[in-house]
Amino acid sequence: MRPSLPEADTEPLLRVEGLTVHFPVGRAGFWGRQKQVLHAVDGVTFDIKRGETLGLVGESGSGKSTTGRAILRKVPITAGSIVFKGQDITGVKGEELRQLRRHMQLVFQDPYGSLNPRMRVLDIVSEPLIVHGLEPNTEACSERVLDLLEIVGLPKDAADRYPHSFSGGQRQRVVIARALALRPDLIIADEPVSALDVSIQAQIVNLLADLQDEFGLTYLFIAHDLSVVRHLSDRIAVMYSGKLVELSDRDAIYDRPTHPYTEALLSSVPIPDPVLQRERRRVPLTGEIPNPISPPPGCRFHTRCPIVQDRCRSEEPPLEDKGAGSVAACWFR
Ligand SMILES: Nc1ncnc2c1ncn2[C@@H]1O[C@H](COP(=O)(O)OP(=O)(O)OP(=O)(O)O)[C@@H](O)[C@H]1O
Ligand SMILES: [Mg+2]
Repeated sequence: MRPSLPEADTEPLLRVEGLTVHFPVGRAGFWGRQKQVLHAVDGVTFDIKRGETLGLVGESGSGKSTTGRAILRKVPITAGSIVFKGQDITGVKGEELRQLRRHMQLVFQDPYGSLNPRMRVLDIVSEPLIVHGLEPNTEACSERVLDLLEIVGLPKDAADRYPHSFSGGQRQRVVIARALALRPDLIIADEPVSALDVSIQAQIVNLLADLQDEFGLTYLFIAHDLSVVRHLSDRIAVMYSGKLVELSDRDAIYDRPTHPYTEALLSSVPIPDPVLQRERRRVPLTGEIPNPISPPPGCRFHTRCPIVQDRCRSEEPPLEDKGAGSVAACWFR
């Protein structure tokens, strides 16, 4: 492990370099002699600056959650490194890992599943404070919880209630209050609004934006499609079959998508302006997502790409700067 370095202003809060996560998934072949692995994440590199929001999008199974879980050190890392606040955390264990987790919190899609139905909100939100011994006594702890509930826009009496008595949006507010309790630097929000009604989604996204301003939070915001991440993200990373195919400034992604896959994802996002909507080039996505146990050689998108050429079938395109805020992995863009 590398020693901690002093934090310079230019240093990103998080740097993920060549992150690879392969899951063993049994054996194949004669007598089962061939070990099989599932390529969930393959050589993903990006960084997130302090106070920035990086949106991470892609179809189901592209490796978004696994990337988030690997950063939190919740899945075994096959290769690559994760540097957080200047420290290489790829191999940290035990107490050091526990301390580290204080600074990174996860907010999930399903607020009901992540809240214990038999605990009052007071106990749910104070649990991390108690586990990490952050408040001197129960009174201070309760006071802090009431503050947190107010910060996330819940009524005072919420503390004594149980998760089932809240709506989905309110439950997500409880989850956010609990994540904030430890004053984290980084929040990994894994589809935090996907399970909510559209009208409620905007409220939670706005809450996350306000909290970011107030507490200087840094977000990795994971979503299926490009419509949800637009409001909050500074830059957006697009994953396809375990690979990053584009990582561009927000406006570049929406106005001038570079990778054909990004273009296809965007086709399904409505544009509010009807003229622009009519003029836009439609790129329908056809074909199947590749099997992650035997991903195709070359560019992984070549089996579905509308501009595929021979080179794409054998040579993998590097992620490179394409100018005007776009970074993408495509031979012909
Ligand atoms: N613990 C595991 N063991 C084996 N395979 C796994 C495991 N976790 C995830 N996978 C596989 O890794 C691939 C990537 O999964 P991941 O959950 O990261 O995708 P995702 O982009 O978050 O998808 P979704 O949008 O559906 O949440 C999938 O093929 C998935 O089945
Ligand atoms: Mg997921």
